[in-house]
Amino acid sequence: MTATKGLEGIVAASSSISSIVDGVLTYRGYDIDDLAVNASFEEVAYLLWFGKLPNAAELQELERDLSEYAPIPDSLIEQMKLYPPDTNTMAALRSAVSALALYDEEADDMSREANERKAIKLQAQLPTIIAALARIRQGEEPVAPQAGLSIAENFLYMLRGEKPEETSVKALDQALVLHADHELNASTFAARVTVATLSDIYSGVTSAIGALKGPLHGGANEAVMKMLKEIGSLDQVDSFIQQKLDNKDKIMGFGHRVYKNGDPRAKHLQKMSSELGEMKGDMTLYDMSVRIEEIVTGQKGLKPNVDFYSASVYTQLGIEHELFTPIFAISRVSGWAAHILEQYENNRIIRPRAEYVGLTDQKYVPLEQR
Ligand code: ACO
Repeated sequence: MTATKGLEGIVAASSSISSIVDGVLTYRGYDIDDLAVNASFEEVAYLLWFGKLPNAAELQELERDLSEYAPIPDSLIEQMKLYPPDTNTMAALRSAVSALALYDEEADDMSREANERKAIKLQAQLPTIIAALARIRQGEEPVAPQAGLSIAENFLYMLRGEKPEETSVKALDQALVLHADHELNASTFAARVTVATLSDIYSGVTSAIGALKGPLHGGANEAVMKMLKEIGSLDQVDSFIQQKLDNKDKIMGFGHRVYKNGDPRAKHLQKMSSELGEMKGDMTLYDMSVRIEEIVTGQKGLKPNVDFYSASVYTQLGIEHELFTPIFAISRVSGWAAHILEQYENNRIIRPRAEYVGLTDQKYVPLEQR
């Protein structure tokens, strides 16, 4: 038995949700380039869960359910107020989602209908939790969700306490579409491993949030923004990046296990970043990002991934960097839920082997002789 480090190249599940073939990402057979410019996030969530694009009535019903489930229990809000004020938002989200299960009477109901309902509940409630966490951290009261708004609009509304402008809603909605699913990425795999023991969907999503938090996965978008802030200005980019490369440090937002010739989602976020910069009349973040890309791609051949330009996009939407990875979770919970439902449909416990490389032939030595 020989281990493959990081399971590179290992096909660990069959799935009909999303695929990456020759650098092209599709959700249920639809090219992400097509969905990014044409579909709403709610349509994409429906597509991931139910395998087809919704018709008008089906979409309306989903939107109604999402609005109905969006409020979170008051006692959960009170609990969140007791979290230490400087807590990492992903750590707080992980705790809050785990606690959410305690308030759901059907948390352990394993029927398909109950699991579909819980998928919609989680999708509806994650944005409410994250907006509430953000407001609590700023010493403000959480704003209750408003029925009839899209997930993108409602999230910005709950965050700011006022209706967002159309351009921000559209940009966030497109970012949510782009992050919704990505085959067997680390957090989705974590979700599938957890529910393959026939544990519940809340446990699966809690595991996934823990995996997404790390800087080698979803946490990279926050790390990119921290790097841009540290660099400070366009004229500092070259020396800063060169030093990192000389030190063999990782440049966050670059590289990918599967895409070696570029991440198909990055170009949409780059375009969005440029458009938002032009609209605001400040191209600093965009120009810095482009220069970083020129240097890193030029010297290392590494291309930007989905996290690189999303950092400047979210910042230009007025969102603080602590919320970048949680926003990724708002989108990716659609994919996690789709994979969890798929895992339950054709389940077998996921239990691989390890290549043992430790000591052998050890003999027990009594405590007093050690
Ligand atoms: N900066 C500098 N060097 C890098 C980077 C980077 N961002 N990414 C990879 N490399 C180097 C590796 O150190 C390795 O060098 P070596 O051969 O001298 O050891 C070489 O490139 C090949 O690396 P891979 O084997 O392709 O990397 P792996 O598949 O193990 O990891 C990962 C992929 C985690 C995404 C990696 O590229 C990375 O750490 N990137 C930065 C973090 C990041 O942006 N993560 C988000 C990924 S997208 C997502 O999860 C949403």
